[in-house]
Amino acid sequence: MGIEAEYAERHPNSRRLAERARRVLPSGVTHDARYLRPFPVAVERAAGSRKWDVDGHELIDYVMGHGALLLGHAHPVVTEAVVRQAQRGTHYGAGHELEVRWAELVCGLVPSAEAVRFTSSGTEATLMALRLARAATGKPAVVKFERHFHGWHDYVVAAARYDGSAPAGIPEEALGTVVVLPVDIAAVRETLASRKDIAAVIVEASGASMGTVPLPRGFLRELAGICRDAGVLLVLDEVVTGFRWAPGGVQALEGVRPDLTALAKVLAGGLPGGAVAGRADLLGLLAFPEPGKPRGVKVGHPGTFNANPLSAAAGVACLQLVSEGEPQRTASARARALREGMNSVLRDLDIPGAVYGQASVFRILLREGVEPPDGDSDGLDLPDDALAAGTESETLRLLHLAMICRGVHLFGNGGILSAVHTSEDIARTLEAWREALLALRAEGALPGDDA
Ligand SMILES: Cc1ncc(COP(=O)(O)O)c(C=O)c1O
Repeated sequence: MGIEAEYAERHPNSRRLAERARRVLPSGVTHDARYLRPFPVAVERAAGSRKWDVDGHELIDYVMGHGALLLGHAHPVVTEAVVRQAQRGTHYGAGHELEVRWAELVCGLVPSAEAVRFTSSGTEATLMALRLARAATGKPAVVKFERHFHGWHDYVVAAARYDGSAPAGIPEEALGTVVVLPVDIAAVRETLASRKDIAAVIVEASGASMGTVPLPRGFLRELAGICRDAGVLLVLDEVVTGFRWAPGGVQALEGVRPDLTALAKVLAGGLPGGAVAGRADLLGLLAFPEPGKPRGVKVGHPGTFNANPLSAAAGVACLQLVSEGEPQRTASARARALREGMNSVLRDLDIPGAVYGQASVFRILLREGVEPPDGDSDGLDLPDDALAAGTESETLRLLHLAMICRGVHLFGNGGILSAVHTSEDIARTLEAWREALLALRAEGALPGDDA
């Protein structure tokens, strides 16, 4: 039986739910990354590194809440904190101690965080960071990098898509304020020297799309220097890397001091939440004028669910647990073992491609001309054009279906681990990987195959 037919046969309840969903939800999904043909798998419950679909299959989960679940699903301490808080009220319409504790933890862990403002998502965090930068400098334009992903608001979607398609529904005026550059330090230097209207440069700390195209070594430090010299603010997007790469994120590992940092995902322990953190004078633009002091700039910021008590409870519980770095070390070690094992299977089966990544993330690249690495790879040794081109979408789709049939749920072009993924999870994933690749080969769906 072919991969797609087997998938359809094994998942009748997911199929039925997808049919219902399509009647009321565009394409039956609520996030573009969850779209899958012929239909996505629907999940009923999750615990630790696993989740169970509506047809009763157990899946090793590498979506991990799109990266939010460094501690795995339904971590007992986080769950207890959320349940306890739910019983005490979910919205006070007033300040509360948990939001203060949450902010103290962020400022204690993230080196550049002198102050913080909570939002409801990573998208809102990058939106606010760019607004603060514009308000502080009085300049309208921002620089972003090709294919770097910062959420879905109007100022960051230019050149964020791999298919190169133009973003729809965004006024030319908004797009006109965004300068898209390649990841090339000379191009940044030249742009910042020649244009005087740039408020900030925003960059994904992992490199484009959760490390799909990693940043060259030393790039962030050089970028920080160029921005400082040009008087342009540096906004580091640590929505994925924050608290995951290390308790203090990439900035702690690389010794880079951004002016503003966007945070989300691990920050809120698996509940909705984001934050802008950074220089006290910049965050101070959100503050009300002191009585008797001259009125300066005041950036407005409402938001019904900012620092809502449930997210704050989960965030505090999670940040306390990850503050010493042990969960990050465990998750990264497991991810390294997985990347090495997956590369060894590629070499064994003589399939062109590589599995690479940083920290607890892995990326899959199946492409002709790519030699499987001997061991782990951070991606910097792989050819740039292959990294940028990625795996053919049909190959990736069939790989998703074949892996789900073998009990593994991938995320996009790879996956994300937690501290509770076990060596048994890794061993089972490697078996699934081998079998799935053989199934793709049988269908002529691997690079170089004639389908
Ligand atoms: C680097 C980065 N920035 C921003 C965002 C947007 O965050 P959210 O989905 O919470 O809006 C994401 C989401 O995946 C991300 O990966």
